[in-house]
Amino acid sequence: MEKDRRSRLRIGRRTPGVLTAGICSILLAAPVVAAGLAGAAAQTPKIADDLRTLYANSADIGEGKRLAQTICAPCHGADGVSRKEGVPHLAGQRAPYLYLELRAYQSGLRGATPMRNTVAVLNNDALIKVSAYFASLDPAPPVAVDVAVSDPIKDGAAAAAPCAGCHGDTGVTKTAGFPSLVGLDPKYLVTSMKMYRSGQRKSDLMTAMVANLTDAALNDIALFYALQKPAPAESPAAGDRAAGQAAATPCAGCHGDTGVSSNPDMPSLAGQDATYLATAMLAYRQGGRVDETMKGMVAALDETAIKNLSAYYAAQEPKAPANVRKPLSAEEWAQRCDRCHGVNGNSTDPRLPALAGQRFDYLETVLKDYRGRTRKNAQMAAMSDVLSDGDIRNLAAHYSRQKAKAVMFIAIPSK
Ligand code: HEC
Ligand code: HEC
Ligand code: HEC
Ligand code: HEC
Repeated sequence: MEKDRRSRLRIGRRTPGVLTAGICSILLAAPVVAAGLAGAAAQTPKIADDLRTLYANSADIGEGKRLAQTICAPCHGADGVSRKEGVPHLAGQRAPYLYLELRAYQSGLRGATPMRNTVAVLNNDALIKVSAYFASLDPAPPVAVDVAVSDPIKDGAAAAAPCAGCHGDTGVTKTAGFPSLVGLDPKYLVTSMKMYRSGQRKSDLMTAMVANLTDAALNDIALFYALQKPAPAESPAAGDRAAGQAAATPCAGCHGDTGVSSNPDMPSLAGQDATYLATAMLAYRQGGRVDETMKGMVAALDETAIKNLSAYYAAQEPKAPANVRKPLSAEEWAQRCDRCHGVNGNSTDPRLPALAGQRFDYLETVLKDYRGRTRKNAQMAAMSDVLSDGDIRNLAAHYSRQKAKAVMFIAIPSK
């Protein structure tokens, strides 16, 4: 429904003489335009209310201004430039978009914000005029927001620097007893680090290493290792590989045929440090590491079998975990957003909001609202679903720094 209303205009824009791309007639009073359109179509066309904002004349805008000065100015500023945290700029915003949002507040679609009560008393005509007024104003100048660009891989590399001494610069261990961290799914890495942090998995050393790391840092670290080139551990592996291979048959269902697991909950074993593998199996058997499945799997294995299995898996070629891709940079994201929101966030679709020059704090909040579904819109839900908090900060900073371009409305001359 929402989507239909917004996409219908595209048809209008392609119809010559009615609306030219991004430039709409505003100087003509609605009845005049309606009469002009009647000649072009067989039936009397009805202009949707949101598009009527584009045909507002100077008298309408004057009425909108009086309304804005009495009701909206305390929060949005009489000039539509907000000085209040959480309150968006309205100056220069696309008029049909403003109108649609005012209707969304009235119907409760945008939830219990201060806007709901404010617009409850306004009739349709008032909504049209006040939208046209704010759209007619010069947009707010861009602001230099002081937000550091977050880059999960760089952040992960920085957070993983203290780990290199034991786990290798890129997660390929050189030291017997210290596991490699490459070739492991980020989900498994995060789970195991959290288990150390909570003390559920016992290693005083590792608990100390991750004790002060936030969940975000753990995610970044896991992503950093998952994106490194996998290579077998550079530590020695004594044992009979062929005997290990024969004993590995029951393990393949979970850890993969050659120790490359396709299930993020089951760690890959291929190329792992042999000493670590053996220590882990012994720990499962003796209860130092608690996992009922693995306890059962290693119960009947003696130390020679464990050594042989370790030698076999250590000699297998590790592979990059499946479905882990480098996250998009802020610029790459913005290109995708600009497809709907216009070049640098200067929307040329009057039903879609301009983002350029909007307040950073407001953009950050609404993107989280879309992601959390407190603000409902199918397209924005899909777009925001995969955004991390860091992506949202980056995008909010990016758009708040762009120069907002006012839309100029010109009248289409009559034939
Ligand atoms: C009490 C303060 C307050 C008053 C008065 C107020 N607003 Fe708002 N307005 C807000 C806040 C806060 C938001 C952001 C709410 C949200 O996140 O949904 C907002 C959001 C909006 C939006 C959505 C903008 C966007 O980019 O999606 C529009 C449109 C709007 N207001 C128009 C108006 C108009 C027109 C008036 C006067 C008739 C008005 N507001 C009066 C506080 C106010
Ligand atoms: C002083 C050496 C040392 C340092 C430094 C160190 N680790 Fe470890 N790490 C170990 C040892 C030893 C183990 C195996 C512990 C066990 O038996 O559970 C381990 C295990 C792990 C595991 C589990 C691997 C698996 O396959 O389950 C992860 C993940 C890990 N470390 C991440 C890190 C991170 C991240 C850092 C840096 C913040 C770090 N380690 C720093 C020695 C170290
Ligand atoms: C039913 C599924 C299943 C089977 C079969 C299985 N494992 Fe596991 N294995 C797991 C799970 C789950 C874990 C992670 C447990 C944890 O969090 O400690 C694991 C962990 C391990 C680890 C620790 C890896 C690390 O990076 O810390 C080793 C070593 C291991 N398994 C070896 C084996 C061997 C050898 C066999 C066959 C004899 C085997 N497993 C069979 C499910 C299985
Ligand atoms: C397929 C088209 C489409 C794409 C792509 C898209 N958007 Fe949107 N966006 C919309 C629509 C439609 C709305 C208005 C939804 C509503 O009514 O709440 C919107 C609204 C917004 C708003 C609210 C603006 C305001 O003033 O309240 C923000 C912020 C936003 N989008 C940011 C983004 C960002 C960032 C991206 C890229 C990650 C993006 N959008 C990609 C269609 C799109």
